[in-house]
Amino acid sequence: MLKVSGLSKHFGDNEVLKQINLEVKRREVVAIIGPSGSGKSTLLRCLNLLETPDAGHIEIDGFEVDARRLKKSDAYALRQKSAMVFQHYNLFKNKTALQNVIEALIVTKKMNKPDAEVLGHKLLDQVGLASKASSYPAMLSGGQQQRVAIARALAVNPAVILLDEPTSALDPELVGEVLQVIRSIVDTDTTMLIVTHEMSFAREIADRVIFMADGSIIEEGDPQSLFGQPQQERTKKFLGTVFSKN
Ligand SMILES: Nc1ncnc2c1ncn2[C@@H]1O[C@H](COP(=O)(O)OP(=O)(O)OP(=O)(O)O)[C@@H](O)[C@H]1O
Ligand SMILES: [Mg+2]
Repeated sequence: MLKVSGLSKHFGDNEVLKQINLEVKRREVVAIIGPSGSGKSTLLRCLNLLETPDAGHIEIDGFEVDARRLKKSDAYALRQKSAMVFQHYNLFKNKTALQNVIEALIVTKKMNKPDAEVLGHKLLDQVGLASKASSYPAMLSGGQQQRVAIARALAVNPAVILLDEPTSALDPELVGEVLQVIRSIVDTDTTMLIVTHEMSFAREIADRVIFMADGSIIEEGDPQSLFGQPQQERTKKFLGTVFSKN
């Protein structure tokens, strides 16, 4: 479904991704954890060419790009395969919840407006926001805005959903409702790559957890093994710091 090989990225002298290899199977939920600055967001952003990698291959749902030989059409084609949910929602402020959800359906997928609206209402209902279709982002809480962003990601029926710390900008009391929506998506057999600081959530929903540090994948495994019996010192140290805070 998703395959990354030899992915590297520099910002100036800073080698942010060092030859990353990663495979995600259809319907697999993979959580990425790791310290700040380890390259987690950059990795997700490279997967849909929001950042241009220096080298490496990215294949999503049968479409492959070679970072050294990018064609103009590659970014568009690759973005058709995935949808990203950001920490800060990134909704259009001058559009209602419904308009935000159906924008890509109308503009990119060329769906007619009535059909898009039917689907949009269904998706808002799915994230518990049926009554907020005509609300503008400024009228919604952070948790509600993030749920709109998730509905928007689902709208294009992507092969894989990429979530980058979807709850870390939220007040603690709003985290639960967003995690609940993500849980409900996992139940629908979506393929998902999620960067999160919510360790107990990662443990609960992920089929596999990847620990990244300094631009490399240090260790990966099923949640029980990775959290219960980490093998690498770097992983132990990170988990020690994280869990001592809780
Ligand atoms: N646009 C950019 N220009 C220059 N350096 C960048 C840019 N984006 C990220 N970096 C650097 O790349 C490294 C990895 O950043 P990245 O945002 O991928 O880390 P992260 O693992 O997502 O961290 P966090 O947990 O804080 O979100 C950091 O050293 C960061 O400063
Ligand atoms: Mg990040």
